[in-house]
Amino acid sequence: MSVHANRDGFATKLGVLTATLGSAVGLGNIWKFPYMAGENGGAAFLFIYLAATIVVGLPVMISEIMMGRHARANAITTWKKVAPNNSLWMLVGVCGVLAAFAIMSFYADVVGWIFSYIFQALSGSLSSTDPAVAKAAFNATVSSPITAIAWQWGVLALVSVIILGGVSKGIEKTTKTLMPILLVMLVIVCIRSLTLPKAMDGLAFLFNPDFSKVTGEVVLMAMGLAFFKLSIGMGTMMTYGSYFRSDANMPLTATRVMLADLTISLLAGIAIFPAVFNYGFEPAAGPGLLFMTIPAVFSSMPFGQIFMTAFFVLTAIATIGAMLSLFEVPVAFMIEGGLGWSRAKSTIVTALLLGGFGIPATLSFSTMSDVTLFGLNFFDFYDYLSSNLLMPIGGFFICIFAGWKWGKERMQESLSNNGTLNNTMIISAYAFIVKWVTPLLVLTVLLKGLNVF
Ligand code: TRP
Repeated sequence: MSVHANRDGFATKLGVLTATLGSAVGLGNIWKFPYMAGENGGAAFLFIYLAATIVVGLPVMISEIMMGRHARANAITTWKKVAPNNSLWMLVGVCGVLAAFAIMSFYADVVGWIFSYIFQALSGSLSSTDPAVAKAAFNATVSSPITAIAWQWGVLALVSVIILGGVSKGIEKTTKTLMPILLVMLVIVCIRSLTLPKAMDGLAFLFNPDFSKVTGEVVLMAMGLAFFKLSIGMGTMMTYGSYFRSDANMPLTATRVMLADLTISLLAGIAIFPAVFNYGFEPAAGPGLLFMTIPAVFSSMPFGQIFMTAFFVLTAIATIGAMLSLFEVPVAFMIEGGLGWSRAKSTIVTALLLGGFGIPATLSFSTMSDVTLFGLNFFDFYDYLSSNLLMPIGGFFICIFAGWKWGKERMQESLSNNGTLNNTMIISAYAFIVKWVTPLLVLTVLLKGLNVF
């Protein structure tokens, strides 16, 4: 007990919410979700995504938080504590820590581009309505090895400094300050976009329900997105759960995070598409949308440079909270998992490892573009490894453990805070879904990721 008595954690209920939401909100909201929704049936996709978060996302998230808070330990030690008799379960935690490294290695690269874009937007070099100029700017940003690595390392250094501050004084304080700023900036850009003459075309792209576009593939995509969006399947939520206050309502917090995260994704779509359509641009996918279409779109509007800069600043803010949660996974393990390192040492070692692993991802766009693993360049390999393999595998075993090993009684006990919360019905629904529904769905996503069908 003595170790836990002075273990750092989130000090306030608001902090529990902002930190967890900060983890969920990231690149997924700003460039993945809006585009996927627009392409795959608009409101019909929203509907599928909502269903996916309820039957896949939330159960895994609640399970992770529940186990982490129970064990009050990092993503690996938690398994040791909840499954003391079978050390194989610990492998799930090991996969999680590996996944954190894999995700961070390409995520920090993209975040580096975003930070570089803030300064390019400020300097005016992105102020052109010609997509060719935007394309050249993007190519220059990603293909200069030294500059791209410098930005990536700068981002890692910034995140390290916050992580060094600890859980309550670093992560919690930062997300409490940044999340409201993100929301205000996003709403301002939304208002600008919505007041453009042809804003309705963009809203139609995002919201017109088209159920004919919903195929089995789209459903699987929505489930995969729910995983990435809610930062589940690799121990992030377990680690954060271990910092939850004992009086925090876990199912309610998870639901609020899911709904707030969805709201932010929709606001991102509302900020982007009305402007895109108003100025006659094509909605693009992936990097093209964020780094080529958006600069050209904002350059088309009055005071566009200000809105463009604001947009990249708010994207950067969104990614910081996500990176903090990824970074904390290995750091928490190094501090407690038998190594007994200080937070400072763990942070520095994690940053150095990420700096190293990140290099081949960054160089995938320049000197190492021909170097492949299993037919993928390093950037895509890290993405594939984490999103298609490690996260669904982790999610599957988390559900199996929570649903089949943890037991209904312990579930009731933890999720109701020893009977102080009146949520028996919700717990019963969760217990059923996590046992019978979620594992099957996650398995389908996993088999699909392995190209089994
Ligand atoms: N949820 C974040 C996003 O949407 C990404 C992220 C942060 C993440 N932590 C994670 C994804 C852990 C998977 C696992 O951008």
